[in-house]
Amino acid sequence: MTDLPIHPLSTEHQMLRDAARDFAQKEISPIAADFDQSGEFPYATIKKMGELGFMGIEVPEQYGGAEMDALAYVLAVEEISKADASHGVIMSVNNSLYCHGVLNFGTEEQKKKFIMPVASGAAIGAYSLTEPQSGSDAGTMKSRAIRDGDFYVLNGRKSWVTSGPVADYLVVFMMTDPEKKQKGITAFLVDGKTKGVVRGRKEPKLGIRASATSELVFEDCRIPAENRLGEEGEGFKIAMTVLDAGRIGIAAQALGIAEAAYEAARQYAGQREAFGQPIGAFQGTGFKIADMKTRIEAARLLTYNAAIAKENSKQTGKRYSLEASMAKLYASETAMFVAHQAIQIHGGVGYSGDLPVERYFRDAKITEIYEGTSEIQRLVISRSELGLK
Ligand code: CAA
Repeated sequence: MTDLPIHPLSTEHQMLRDAARDFAQKEISPIAADFDQSGEFPYATIKKMGELGFMGIEVPEQYGGAEMDALAYVLAVEEISKADASHGVIMSVNNSLYCHGVLNFGTEEQKKKFIMPVASGAAIGAYSLTEPQSGSDAGTMKSRAIRDGDFYVLNGRKSWVTSGPVADYLVVFMMTDPEKKQKGITAFLVDGKTKGVVRGRKEPKLGIRASATSELVFEDCRIPAENRLGEEGEGFKIAMTVLDAGRIGIAAQALGIAEAAYEAARQYAGQREAFGQPIGAFQGTGFKIADMKTRIEAARLLTYNAAIAKENSKQTGKRYSLEASMAKLYASETAMFVAHQAIQIHGGVGYSGDLPVERYFRDAKITEIYEGTSEIQRLVISRSELGLK
């Protein structure tokens, strides 16, 4: 596979990327198929990723992170996801949906208490927005938080929480003033051991099977008022701001899946012979390789560009929703396209569980759904371009 000389990386970025690649290929690749089969959560490798600084890449060292930039984060998620998309999403949610939100909206005390263990990889963080009847239209949630003196009492049912069954700490969005609709949503930090946090059924899934997903039910869960993240009514904006960061992580995950599927197909196309020549020499296969490679490099440009926009926003405060949505939309649809073509190039053997290509195909699908479907990304992009919001 030829590396195109785009976005020349700094020495630090190259070192980080190489360290992530080395770890992923040595420690994650060999176990990925077994964990996909068993659906077990990969505690041991996630812990090691924490020790290497991968669970809080952009978090300042004072809060237990590696204090690197947004491009470093994307490079690491890409490399980890090339080996296994389940590890990729656990890492992405921990870094983006959890740490990014607490870092940007938390008080000093909240950062010390709620980021330190998660950024260092000693604990796992999750983000809980979706409800059974409220997915794309996230502002219609029903879960309630009611103030009671120095506490809030949380009640409701959340669904599709990545790392829900195992998370030590959660960012949770609840309605505090239903009459105000979206502007009545508030964010909270919840210790997963708090009485009234009930872990629901672990979802059986098509792909990313080693990443645990579940419902979370809150039953008269009392949390200190000091655990409110931001002000009352700021929750929807916090949720959306955090999702912009999350979508770049999912773009990087999708890029990693696409690259893994592409590399398998490229090698196979050069080795497998039919009618007296390698199948890659037939235009039907060669053109597939050309389209796969071109789309991957386009997805990479959009994803790295979104990371740079995110990094710049740390100085300017400018939103990077458009860049994040374009990266996620294109990279996730590229992952699906490339994984589909990779199976086609492999033929029957690509459909077999003996090779990882069918896992790449199953893992790719979710990137078009979570953290905003492709349709939602198109909505964000078109509204932005047409000046509708
Ligand atoms: N950053 C900051 N503010 C934002 C924002 C952003 N990215 N997007 C919207 N806002 C603000 C708007 O400026 C607006 O503020 P004002 O009222 O003050 O003007 C307010 O939020 C409402 O915005 P909209 O009117 O645009 O809201 P909407 O109801 O039309 O929804 C949407 C917009 C883009 C469709 C949004 O609801 C959305 O992204 N939906 C998808 C939700 C999603 O991604 N869910 C996945 C959850 S996580 C998951 O998948 C599980 C997991 O664990 C990985």
